[in-house]
Amino acid sequence: MSVVLRAVAVTVSDRCARGEQEDESGAILVSLLKELGARIVATEIVPDDLVPLAEKLRGYAERADVNLIMTTGGTGLSPRDNTPEATRAVIEREVPGIAEAMRAESLKKTPTAMISRGVCGVRSGALIVNLPGSPAAVRECFDVIRPVLAHAVALLAGRSHDGTDASA
Ligand code: MTE
Repeated sequence: MSVVLRAVAVTVSDRCARGEQEDESGAILVSLLKELGARIVATEIVPDDLVPLAEKLRGYAERADVNLIMTTGGTGLSPRDNTPEATRAVIEREVPGIAEAMRAESLKKTPTAMISRGVCGVRSGALIVNLPGSPAAVRECFDVIRPVLAHAVALLAGRSHDGTDASA
């Protein structure tokens, strides 16, 4: 089963959006996606505002040329951390195992992994994955989900486990 990952990388950070901090995590995310063979459809740096972020995620998910949306940042406990809420507002189905696996594996490296509230789910044929905001967290969490990303997106596209078209 093969599918081309058509990905959007969204950095959610007030400071990066204001230009006060370099978007290292977004750059790492894009390079990890490219290594996996993904086409980068768009990259964005947006502030932590809940409603505009949800609208942004909804807009990308509904595009026919997007099947993967990965966010970095805004998953913690500060009052401005809204990424999980924005994601929940737009997903039709949650994929809890992806977020659970990232937290469980990350916990082996750092106890602060349990602070990330990141979620994962599906809307309009696109998989949305929240990663925490630090560069180390992006690498560590991406390592966990790398083996399943293409498979998950292929299933979303209607491919069955044996590679045939499940909707046929
Ligand atoms: N997960 C991994 N794998 N590695 C990390 O360094 N940092 C944690 C956590 N998850 C971390 C991690 C920290 S310190 C925080 S505050 C939360 O993610 C939320 O980060 P965010 O608000 O930048 O999304």
